[in-house]
Amino acid sequence: MSTVDRFARIPNNVNLGGDKRLQRALESWLPDYLSWWQEMGPAMAQDKDVYLRTAISVDADGWANFDYVKMPEYRWGIFLADPTPDRKIHFGDHIGQPAFQEVPGEFRNILRRIIVTQADTEPASVEQQRRLAFTAPSLLDMRNLFQVNVEEGRHLWAMVYLLQAYFGKDGREEADELLRRRSGDPDKPRILGAFNQPCNDWISFYAFTMFTDRDGKYQLASLAESGFDPLARTCRFMLTEEAHHLSVGETGLMRVVRRTAELMKANPGKDVRSLGGVDLGTLQRIINFWYTYSLDLFGGEISSNSADFFAASLKGRYQEERREEHSALGQMKVVPVVEGGRLSNKEVPLRNALNEVLRDDYVEDCERALRRWNHELEKLGVEERLTLPSRRFHRHQGEYSRHSFDPQGNLITAEELAAKRDQWLPSEADMAFLRSIMVPVHQVGKIASWTSAPARGVDGKPFEFEYVRL
Ligand SMILES: [Fe+2]
Ligand SMILES: [Fe+2]
Repeated sequence: MSTVDRFARIPNNVNLGGDKRLQRALESWLPDYLSWWQEMGPAMAQDKDVYLRTAISVDADGWANFDYVKMPEYRWGIFLADPTPDRKIHFGDHIGQPAFQEVPGEFRNILRRIIVTQADTEPASVEQQRRLAFTAPSLLDMRNLFQVNVEEGRHLWAMVYLLQAYFGKDGREEADELLRRRSGDPDKPRILGAFNQPCNDWISFYAFTMFTDRDGKYQLASLAESGFDPLARTCRFMLTEEAHHLSVGETGLMRVVRRTAELMKANPGKDVRSLGGVDLGTLQRIINFWYTYSLDLFGGEISSNSADFFAASLKGRYQEERREEHSALGQMKVVPVVEGGRLSNKEVPLRNALNEVLRDDYVEDCERALRRWNHELEKLGVEERLTLPSRRFHRHQGEYSRHSFDPQGNLITAEELAAKRDQWLPSEADMAFLRSIMVPVHQVGKIASWTSAPARGVDGKPFEFEYVRL
């Protein structure tokens, strides 16, 4: 097992102290990171004690320590899952070879692109969520927001470690650029579309952590299979932290659904908005928005990049190790495409359809969450249901981005889409309504009117706990 240096300036289990050059490079990046955090991190409570978990090892049990900490003093560290002795590459063209411990020269550029693209999402989401604490519906929610934020910061550290340790000068330049781009900035935007969308209300925050962080889970899981061992080990540990972000989103939306259902049952025929709740129509449109932007993150349905990454043994499929066949050669996948003004099925060599294969796993996971929320509606006696739109609806990347579709996936004209847009996607009025109900509830044990308290608190603590000492 690796030794953890908890008390170093940069806590780590990669023996940073034994590599002075790298240590100096990371220590000189640290102040830049901290000024980025001050400028773009949470806009509230930076000087307050927050009950946070901090990674202190990579042990399956007991990797985290819970305590009050002020966010700028958070111990962002570099932790890689323990190495597997004699690990062999288990997919792609390099199957059977020893895992790469250094960057293979011929894959240097694509590997750097994979890492930078993942890395860029981490600070981006912190920037998107910057102002949410001002309207937190409870202290527990505020604490969860900050937990997600500091861990996205740690994920940035995880990726910057790889860039600086394995990519020399180029890597250092990329690390600097990661602190220069800004979510939503027209001149220096973040790399991926979803990470430039505003996320200024809590329904959007839950949808973001439910759908967009969940894309992250699937990207990290396929990189955790990587033949480049340091990347695989980094991603394995990041997944441990990511699970909490996903549950913040999934249970966050569940709590809103429950509250809405309660209001509907207690006040038949009344407008939920007038009762201070979020109507199911608005929830559906927020789901439609973030789910479809998150689908884009998987990349094109037919993609030579996906084939290259897999062939190079750098990015596997979800749970590649559990599959029976690891070459993805000599197989086809059917992908619906638009040809001659109508949808038709096209057979694509599997390696070129691996983005779509990963998207399949993601969609299935999202459907599971929808079933849970709908079960809650059913339990509370509400007949309406929430749904996921077709993966062709509202796309900005890939095969479907050049055409217009309705939420059922039928091809429609751009005019039809424009006419129905506000029924299917959040309108100005929806967003104004959400802004109007986002009033801060910052007292211990209190909760906003539009949601319900969670069944459990954090770290065995009750909901009525002072998670943030304001
Ligand atoms: Fe992350
Ligand atoms: Fe996350």
